[in-house]
Amino acid sequence: MIYQNLVVSNDRHICRIAINREPKLNALNRLTLAELHDAVANALITDAIRGIVLTGAGNKAFVAGADISEFATVNTEQGRALANEGQTSVFDLIHNANKPIIAAINGYALGGGLELALACHIRVAVSHAKLGLPEVSLGLIPGYGGTQRLTQLVGRGKALELILTADMISAREALELGIVNHVVEQTDLLAKTDEILLRIASRSRTAVSAAIKAVNASLGAVNQGFETEVNLFGECFGTPDFKEGVTAFLEKRKPKF
Ligand code: COA
Repeated sequence: MIYQNLVVSNDRHICRIAINREPKLNALNRLTLAELHDAVANALITDAIRGIVLTGAGNKAFVAGADISEFATVNTEQGRALANEGQTSVFDLIHNANKPIIAAINGYALGGGLELALACHIRVAVSHAKLGLPEVSLGLIPGYGGTQRLTQLVGRGKALELILTADMISAREALELGIVNHVVEQTDLLAKTDEILLRIASRSRTAVSAAIKAVNASLGAVNQGFETEVNLFGECFGTPDFKEGVTAFLEKRKPKF
């Protein structure tokens, strides 16, 4: 399958999916999300594939977030639908996958990019990677599960600090917080993710699938958090702060809140 915004390759039971919009720092526009759904779903039903690596093209960005240029005309209802559809078709698909999915974080993982990595089962980052959830600097909140998955991973205090300050942290800080499992040099990134996946591939695939399901069950999938996030994300689109935040980004200036 040929994609416009993804490069997909299969090797030694591993499917590698690279988000390929380098001039836009691999930002997730609608087409990229639709293609991601298709590529991940396809790898999950391909018998020979035992695991997936998600990464970004180039060495600057994994994914610098949702594509802000597509936000400009979105209203509250559309914002809610956007978050809902993305969460179900891509982020939950990855989170609940019956095969291991590793994020190979090769640079900036911001907003929807960090949320994409958080939905994966394991994260490996290069030492120059920067991670963060900068949505409040745009008058938004994370809308693809970031408020839930980051909190589950690092606890409420650290999650709130990262989300409310909108600050970026280094790969080393992310390692200390437990957001990433390993930090490696750029040249070792894919060797590290392949090594982990090939180890997992040597184990029982039915047991691996059951283990992912059981661990995910510990996160309380039935809570209302994701729904609350979607609703509040949608409401942000109706605010003057959102208009100012997105306009400022597009005009390459600091927002005035
Ligand atoms: N959505 C749409 N376009 C984006 C983008 C995003 N999330 N992130 C980067 N881009 C685009 C830029 O607009 C720019 O496009 P242009 O060359 O056509 O002007 C291009 O990618 C390169 O980005 P630029 O900002 O020039 O690179 P930089 O090295 O100066 O800064 C970042 C890198 C990551 C700090 C900066 O791009 C950034 O802050 N991006 C937005 C991050 C964000 O808020 N994400 C959450 C979205 S909800």
